[in-house]
Amino acid sequence: MARTLIQGGTVVTAVDTYEADVAIVDGEIAAIFGNGAAPAGPWDVTIDARGKYVLPGGIDAHTHMDMPFGGTSSSDDFQTGTLAAAHGGTTCIVDFAIQAKGEALRKGLDTWHAKAEGKAAVDYAFHMILTDVNDGTVAEMQRCVDEGVTSFKMFMAYPGVFLVDDGQIFRAMQRAGELGALICMHAENGIPIDILVQQALARGHTAPVYHALTRPQIAEAEGTHRAICLAEMAGAPVYLVHLSAPRALEQVMHARDRGLPAFAETCPQYLFLSQDDLARPGFEGAKYVCTPPLRPREMQEDLWRGLRTNDLQVVSTDHCPFCMKGQKDLGTGSFAKIPNGMPGVETRMYMLWDGGVRAGRISMNRFVEITSAAPAKIFGLYPHKGTVAVGADADLVVWDGDRKHVLSDKTLHMRVDYTPYEGREVTGAPTHVLSRGKVVVQDGAYVGRTGDGRFVRRGRFALA
Ligand code: URP
Ligand code: ZN
Ligand code: ZN
Repeated sequence: MARTLIQGGTVVTAVDTYEADVAIVDGEIAAIFGNGAAPAGPWDVTIDARGKYVLPGGIDAHTHMDMPFGGTSSSDDFQTGTLAAAHGGTTCIVDFAIQAKGEALRKGLDTWHAKAEGKAAVDYAFHMILTDVNDGTVAEMQRCVDEGVTSFKMFMAYPGVFLVDDGQIFRAMQRAGELGALICMHAENGIPIDILVQQALARGHTAPVYHALTRPQIAEAEGTHRAICLAEMAGAPVYLVHLSAPRALEQVMHARDRGLPAFAETCPQYLFLSQDDLARPGFEGAKYVCTPPLRPREMQEDLWRGLRTNDLQVVSTDHCPFCMKGQKDLGTGSFAKIPNGMPGVETRMYMLWDGGVRAGRISMNRFVEITSAAPAKIFGLYPHKGTVAVGADADLVVWDGDRKHVLSDKTLHMRVDYTPYEGREVTGAPTHVLSRGKVVVQDGAYVGRTGDGRFVRRGRFALA
């Protein structure tokens, strides 16, 4: 029986802040004592958390490890990506398994299990991307849910790759509603976007900034509106992934005001980066090509407001890294060929603590809510994950809210040759990261064992 005590820290959950000693036995939180009231032991490991915060580990509900996309594959696999996640205080990821067109969900799920098994540093779960909604697919959704894959993503974007039409979306939504599953939607109307892309290229507009100029926010607002309407017709909850812009947010706000089970996440890149980054000289803008695109800087404040008012419930990363050399440079002559996606699984907590909590935009409790508690609740991981409570998994972060460090590709652990935040000084970092009670990162060093992260079967959607 492994026994660990985290002593003298300030526990922060989505709702409470209090001083306590947290006792862990066999990977679970066994007891929470008043500060200094824990029994003397014996403890196998004692962690001195005085002057630090004890947070539930981050949950990143949107990652793409080892994902074939844009003529290449995202550069982190489950080993490197979850190790980087752990360094940044994230102890669970929900990655997207993919149904290849014409193939069964079973095959896609098996492929993702094979990618992850024995490799992960922290726990992981899967959503299932539907690319081909037919009778077989609809029938198979039940099995996914039974196996703990309780959410399905579909795309209104990327024609010819991932896009599914409204009929397919509607069928999958109806089934999800019956099964208590959640539909995640990439809501951008990819058909007119593709026309704008072809027109831009025909005019010789090939630079990275045209990625943003050909994907206006109205395309996202229309997709968001349509996704919400289809979900309402189908009687299903819907979760808008990587929401980037005010007009899409308005659609979510109206839906929620009407009492609909509509939820949305945004990502750090939409809170901290902008279209100006895409317009950097030469080909540097390629680092910032992700979809939906980065928006004009003045749109960021709306997203922060949405986070404060709970119209946006989650900040995940959409971690989908591609190296500049050998991957992003596929698009040197055409922005349309730049693989879409950015690294972020390691930097999310840093950016949100520094630019959110310390900047006075959100409270510490809201930080915990949007990075851990809300994704746990929405994606069926709560109360095992997402809080500090007796009986919960001891996925915990001892967080030094005052530790300064500079973000750099040279010191971060993601397997990619840049960070979009190069040179940015941030304050706040973990001293200890625990996955199911075991310390996996201590003072910046990985002390865990590859493969200790487990697949987590998630519960059905329960928040509607
Ligand atoms: O640019 C992005 N977001 N790449 C990953 C695929 C997706 O749309 O989520
Ligand atoms: Zn997407
Ligand atoms: Zn994504």
